[in-house]
Amino acid sequence: MPGSGSFDVAAVRALYPALADGHAYLDGAAGTQVPDSVIEAIAAAYRGGIGNLGGTFAASGRSVAIVAEARAAVADLVGGVPEGVVFGPSATALAYRIADALSRSWTAGDDIVVSRLDHDSNVRPWIQAAGRAGVTVQWAEPDLVTGELPAAQYAELVGPRTRLVAVTAASNAIGTRPDVAAIAAFAHAPGALCYVDGVHATPHVPVDITALGADFYATSAYKWSGPHVAAAVAAPELLETVWPDKLAPSSNAVPWRFERGTLPFADLAGMTAAVDHLAELAPGGSAGASVSVGASAAARTRRERVLASMTAVEAYESALFTRLLGGLAGLDRVILYGKAARRAPTAFFDVAGMSPRAVAEHLAARGVNVWDGDNYAYELCTALGLEPDGAVRAGLVHYNDASDVDRLLDGLAEIAR
Ligand SMILES: Cc1ncc(COP(=O)(O)O)c(C=O)c1O
Repeated sequence: MPGSGSFDVAAVRALYPALADGHAYLDGAAGTQVPDSVIEAIAAAYRGGIGNLGGTFAASGRSVAIVAEARAAVADLVGGVPEGVVFGPSATALAYRIADALSRSWTAGDDIVVSRLDHDSNVRPWIQAAGRAGVTVQWAEPDLVTGELPAAQYAELVGPRTRLVAVTAASNAIGTRPDVAAIAAFAHAPGALCYVDGVHATPHVPVDITALGADFYATSAYKWSGPHVAAAVAAPELLETVWPDKLAPSSNAVPWRFERGTLPFADLAGMTAAVDHLAELAPGGSAGASVSVGASAAARTRRERVLASMTAVEAYESALFTRLLGGLAGLDRVILYGKAARRAPTAFFDVAGMSPRAVAEHLAARGVNVWDGDNYAYELCTALGLEPDGAVRAGLVHYNDASDVDRLLDGLAEIAR
């Protein structure tokens, strides 16, 4: 329902200066554009003067405040608490950092479970850590026809010695949103931890890490209109039990001890602005959304506004995705991968007889930005027989509109009908 209800896509698009170049930005799954408010927040941090943490002067205090505000913002985005928000340069770096720390308590005979649906950043760090610890790796398999990751298989995969289950909240290739809550429940039965990759899910749906059962939830701000900085969110009580490698003089406190070196203060200011931007997309929710719209937007907490907004975003993107899928279905030579019942608005497809790169080049020449390749969904693409070229990915985010979709479909019609 582009432009309908309380989700005003034209108003949203006007907030993004990069969209003025007239391209159809369908590459959001690889990184979104940023609104003026984020650009301004980053510039304002530098203009206002920032210093390193712990100094005696005002600029140092401003950085302290920026970090605290960013922790609170990310906590509001995913339903965590600020003391459980760990920052890092990327979700991949955080996964390696946490895998390294957690695996120190693993011993031979233990096992972990990873999935073949996941981005490699939630696979390889765990496999490599397991290799060092002498721990067995079990694989959860997606159904290659439907794209579903059946939760029931975890009943067999998780055993008494399982220490960790790593699973994605949404596939960055075929969009599948597995039943993470059910998978986490299987993990928790013998006391294993559940590490959830929320990088692809966070821009598309309201997130509640408690409801998901995520012991760790990773998210990257550059996928939701923010700068290139990431967070892993956990309960502070859990973080207290984990000791990563760290420098001797750096803080032993949680979450600080997980953060290596100096934080990117200006980017963190931008991260907060990005959460505020999401919270303002449709703070009253969309028509028909289950979120209460009784209280005025201003009187509601940012967490409430985030939930209302993301509920509206999900409804908006879902309607636009239906248009995209309908159009693809009408193109004889398009081969679409995955048709999971619950999925992020991300289409992964080939045009028969053409390489993904050639399709992407054809579309780029028409001002349509799509990705080609495996998108690091390496195990999935291997299982689908798509390595090394992968396929074409067109992903929607909240600033895409019907004209973006129609331009993609028009461009494809020239080569795929
Ligand atoms: C689902 C998913 N997980 C993890 C990552 C890696 O994120 P980062 O670039 O922050 O390491 C990506 C990036 O594309 C992703 O889509």
